[in-house]
Amino acid sequence: MSKHRIAWLPGDGIGNDVMEAARLVLDAVELDAEYVHGDIGWEYWCREGDALPTRTVHLLKTVDAALFGAITSKPVKAAEAELSPEHKGRGLTYRSPIVRMRQLFDLYVCLRPCKAYPGNPLNHREGIDLVVFRENTEDLYAGVEFGPVPQELAATLKGLSKPFAHFADLPGDEYAVSCKINTKHGSERIVRAAFEFAKQHGRKKVTIVHKANVVRATDGLFLEEAKKVAQDFPGIQTDDANIDAICMWLLKNPFAYDVLVAPNLYGDIISDLCAQMVGGLGFGCSGNIGEKLAVFEPTHGSAPKYAGQHKVNPIATILAIKNGEVVQQIQGARPKVDFENMVKNLLA
Ligand code: IPM
Ligand code: MG
Repeated sequence: MSKHRIAWLPGDGIGNDVMEAARLVLDAVELDAEYVHGDIGWEYWCREGDALPTRTVHLLKTVDAALFGAITSKPVKAAEAELSPEHKGRGLTYRSPIVRMRQLFDLYVCLRPCKAYPGNPLNHREGIDLVVFRENTEDLYAGVEFGPVPQELAATLKGLSKPFAHFADLPGDEYAVSCKINTKHGSERIVRAAFEFAKQHGRKKVTIVHKANVVRATDGLFLEEAKKVAQDFPGIQTDDANIDAICMWLLKNPFAYDVLVAPNLYGDIISDLCAQMVGGLGFGCSGNIGEKLAVFEPTHGSAPKYAGQHKVNPIATILAIKNGEVVQQIQGARPKVDFENMVKNLLA
């Protein structure tokens, strides 16, 4: 029996190509693993009305970790149009399977290292070495959304919020509401993971990213919790920055930053920016890490037009495997898998 059981989720588009390349690397380092294929992706949405079928969710409950390729996703109406006839009109709504995996398995850390590998002509500057910790389960990704807006919600908001008066007379189908939900617990644990990582890896500084001057309730809470956590790490410098300003500062002076921690959507944004500074999304990798499961993936999409051509750079997927190294520290005293050992020889 193999030491590790890993769910193998290529998805669609170039997901298959990059996973095939990653497998060559895993086999070359003779990782003692059993790879179990899981169905996921656009074809399962069209055929079964679910891009993340229940059998795949069950599979994920039985593995130590998963490697995920990429999936095509389309806006709600376009997705509905591609459903097979028997699933049309059932009220099915497409939701990104990676976002669902993050939430279903409470994969609350999204770890995105962005390192400029020496000599890469695509580097914004040589020597960039940033690590993004993105909160992965809450915020504007909570999925609590209304469009059209039901009358009860409008009436409640009218009674509770002064600024809502501006929208209160609109018909429900003339606007939409997406709730940004951030909890103290969710904020605390992602910030703590970022500081723990900084401590264990000799990183000097953690920057808290937010927009608390405008988005006062949710980002205010995130910033407040983050500052409390920072007090437990006196050896590590802390600062904070607004999401807009950090995009400018990161480009201008990437060496002033080290580890960045952000709520879900800002983390999504800065991780693309940071990836571009080290060569583009082709170098962007993620670890979606929870207490019981970790799903590793390249950050890029499925680029259907290149599918099957073995043309796209698989380095992001290979780097995603390398992400496994730090899982042990994040999981603290309760590692389920010896990731450290698993990828020890993989990449320098
Ligand atoms: C990412 C991606 C996903 C996200 C998409 C594919 C849903 O952009 O992993 O950064 O928004 O989280
Ligand atoms: Mg993204």
